[in-house]
Amino acid sequence: MREHSSEDCRPEALLSVAAEAAQAAGALLLNYARSGFRVELKNPVNLVTDADHAAEQCIVDHIRARFSDHRILAEERGADTASSSRYRWIIDPLDGTTNFAHGFPVYAVSIGVECDGRGLIGVVYDPTRDELFTAQAGGGAYLNGRPIAVSATDLLDRSLLVTGFAYDIRETPNNNLDHFARFALKTRGVRRTGSAALDLCYVAAGRFDGFWEVKLSPWDMAAGVVILREAGGRVTDFRGNTHSIHQPELVASNGLVHEAMLAVLGEDPAR
Ligand code: IPD
Ligand code: CA
Ligand code: CA
Repeated sequence: MREHSSEDCRPEALLSVAAEAAQAAGALLLNYARSGFRVELKNPVNLVTDADHAAEQCIVDHIRARFSDHRILAEERGADTASSSRYRWIIDPLDGTTNFAHGFPVYAVSIGVECDGRGLIGVVYDPTRDELFTAQAGGGAYLNGRPIAVSATDLLDRSLLVTGFAYDIRETPNNNLDHFARFALKTRGVRRTGSAALDLCYVAAGRFDGFWEVKLSPWDMAAGVVILREAGGRVTDFRGNTHSIHQPELVASNGLVHEAMLAVLGEDPAR
């Protein structure tokens, strides 16, 4: 059934289209992983493959078939500004492209939906583990249909954190290596999975206690922050202010180690 001119979509309908699209794109990524793909270099460390483009097209086709007037912001094609719809779909068709291109099986499809600029739906699908993370604002967060919640770890000293590094790591001193070094000495460990969308979901599921990154894009975060909040987590900028997916810094946690993480991020690197 098409709902193409409806401006008050049922969140359940949005969630189900997002989940279908993410799973279809995930299946397509697995096929490319098995049968081969072409890699292009945006620069020596920033890759894109034909699987990224095909997965994105698959997701856009799913959305257009049901909600033809909704706005779309997708990593590879950019923003589509033709409509004034209240709804905007924010898509990372392959989060973890470097992993994918190297055959390291940690990557995901990320689809968020905003209504009037606020995160309403989050869906992240990891095709290699068949893990589907979903959330609807006010409705809780789920992994393959089962409720998930953040961890109860309340000390940084006992926490397992995760982070990531942007593609300009070689070109700028704001490359997160300073924060990484400090957290590595104050926690049980810091991981780098290579997929920010999964990092957010893993905090939501209690697998990590916190996540920070200095330079993310809206499509890395749109779905994951809805899932994290619905799992009871907290997300802010580095000063503890309200987080926006249109700003690059993000601190996400179980809430209990959040202030301690902000304190480490605020430490003067020269000290
Ligand atoms: C990247 C991943 C990575 C993060 C980078 C992102 P991509 O996205 O989420 O974990 O550290 O900042 O750009 O390029 O694989 O979609
Ligand atoms: Ca990404
Ligand atoms: Ca991507």
